[in-house]
Amino acid sequence: MESTLSIVKPDGVSKGLIGEVIKRFESAGIKVAAVKMLHLTKKTAEEFYAVHRERPFFDSLTGFMASGPVVVMVLEGEEVIRRTRDLMGATDPKDADEGTIRKDYASDIEKNIVHGSDAVDTAREEIRFFFSGLEMI
Ligand code: RTP
Ligand code: MG
Repeated sequence: MESTLSIVKPDGVSKGLIGEVIKRFESAGIKVAAVKMLHLTKKTAEEFYAVHRERPFFDSLTGFMASGPVVVMVLEGEEVIRRTRDLMGATDPKDADEGTIRKDYASDIEKNIVHGSDAVDTAREEIRFFFSGLEMI
């Protein structure tokens, strides 16, 4: 059993897609093990996306992530990291496969509705960033 961290980004929350994103994961047999709504500060967003700090889009990305509330969740299941990312689709909705969350709802490469951890070690770090053990089922 594997765990991953997913975030409904501010554009997903403001478009009323919290339920839709969770439904896509649950319909695929993925379990929600923890969930909460937060409004990140710019500083917290910068810490979360620190791996991207040298990238030209870092300031814009972290400003966007702090622009409104987000829903963070821990997902569990077999190969849940890969399966979550498959359901999300490619970073840029123009490249995303039909039927993926980003293809259906993302407006551009930055405002792409949803985040998912990309590997076992980053998933562990990202889950710890947002949740204490007590908050997980
Ligand atoms: P995420 O981390 O949010 O799940 O997305 P990802 O793995 O598909 O993409 P990543 O390369 O990790 O980028 C993180 C987020 O930064 C924004 N971004 N903007 N303007 C740009 O060229 C650009 N590239 C990436 C997106 O919000 C992306 O999801
Ligand atoms: Mg990423």
